[in-house]
Amino acid sequence: MPDDAAATPRGSGPSARAQRTDILLSVRNIQKTYHSESGPVEALRDLSFDVRDGELACLVGPSGCGKTTLLKCISGLLRPTRGQVHLAGELVSGPPKGMAVVFQEYGRSLFPWMNVQHNIELPLKNAKIPKAEMRQVVDEALDAVGLSHAASLYPWQLSGGMQQRVAIARAVAYRPKVLLMDEPFAAVDAQTRADLEDLVRDIWHKLGVTFLFVTHDIDESVYLGERVIILSSSPTVVQEDLDIDLPDDRDQLGTRSMPRFTELRGHVYRQIQAAKARHPHTEAEVEHVHHLEAGLPE
Ligand SMILES: Nc1ncnc2c1ncn2[C@@H]1O[C@H](COP(=O)(O)OP(=O)(O)OP(=O)(O)O)[C@@H](O)[C@H]1O
Ligand SMILES: [Mg+2]
Repeated sequence: MPDDAAATPRGSGPSARAQRTDILLSVRNIQKTYHSESGPVEALRDLSFDVRDGELACLVGPSGCGKTTLLKCISGLLRPTRGQVHLAGELVSGPPKGMAVVFQEYGRSLFPWMNVQHNIELPLKNAKIPKAEMRQVVDEALDAVGLSHAASLYPWQLSGGMQQRVAIARAVAYRPKVLLMDEPFAAVDAQTRADLEDLVRDIWHKLGVTFLFVTHDIDESVYLGERVIILSSSPTVVQEDLDIDLPDDRDQLGTRSMPRFTELRGHVYRQIQAAKARHPHTEAEVEHVHHLEAGLPE
C-alpha cells in the first residue's frame, strides 16, 4: 500500500477479511483483446487476483477500463484471450453453476410477461430445485430484499429500485457461491442507491455469499467493500489491492463522515487519477498530465 494510506490511523482492529483463508475465486493472468472492424482492442492487459470465500470485494476503475469485460470473462460468458479463472478449484469454461450475475440494466434483466415469483423461479427450474422447495426459496429471497408483498406483481408495476431488488432476489435464490454485480445501481436515484448498498451488506451478513461488486463510483466501493481492487485505465492491470479497514457495522451517515472514510476515498481517487495520467485518453486528460508534469496550477 502506498504511503499516504498506510500512514493514516486505521479504522478498526485486525479486519475480518484477514481471517478468511479459503480462496473461492482465482483470476490468473487474464488478457482480453477484442477484434473489431477498426482493428484489435486490448481491453485487459494482465489481471490476477483472488477472492476469498465469504469476502465482499469491490472492483473500481475508470469508465471503459474493462470492468464489464472482466466480469464476463469471470462468469464464463466471454472467453479470455489468455489466462484462466477457477471457481472453487474448477476451471471456468462456461457459465458455472456456482455463480450468479446482476447487471446494470434491470429493465432488460426481468421478463415483463412473468410476475416476480415466476421471474425468480426461472433459473431455479434450470438448477432442478424440486418444486416443493421452490416456493420457500422464492419467499426467503423476497424476504431478504424486503419485497415479500410483491410476488404476484409484474416488473412494469414496480419502480426501478424494486426491479433491481427482484434481480438481486433472483440471484440470491439461486444460492450462488459467488455473486457478481456489474454497476447494479448506476441507473437508480441517489436515495434508492443508498438503500440498495445497505441491502447488499445486509444480504452479505445474513447469507454469507461472496460478492464481487463492480463500480466506477469510488465512494460506493469504499462504503461497501472489505477490500477495493483498483483497476488502471485500459489496457488494464490491477493498480492496487486495498484493504478497507472501516468498522464492519456501517451506515450511510456515520461511516461516510468518518475521517478514515475520507482518507480511503481520497487514496482511491488519487490512484485512479494516477492511472489515467499514465494512459491519457481524452484531450482534457492529456492536458491534465501536461499540467502535472509542468507543476502548473489547473
Ligand atoms: N464487443 C466489443 N468489441 C470491441 N471492443 C469492445 C467490445 N466490448 C468492449 N470493447 C472495448 O473494450 C474496452 C472495455 O470495455 P468495457 O465495457 O469492458 O469497459 P467498462 O469498464 O465496463 O466500461 P463502463 O465503465 O463504461 O461500463 C473499451 O475500450 C470498449 O470499447
Ligand atoms: Mg461496464
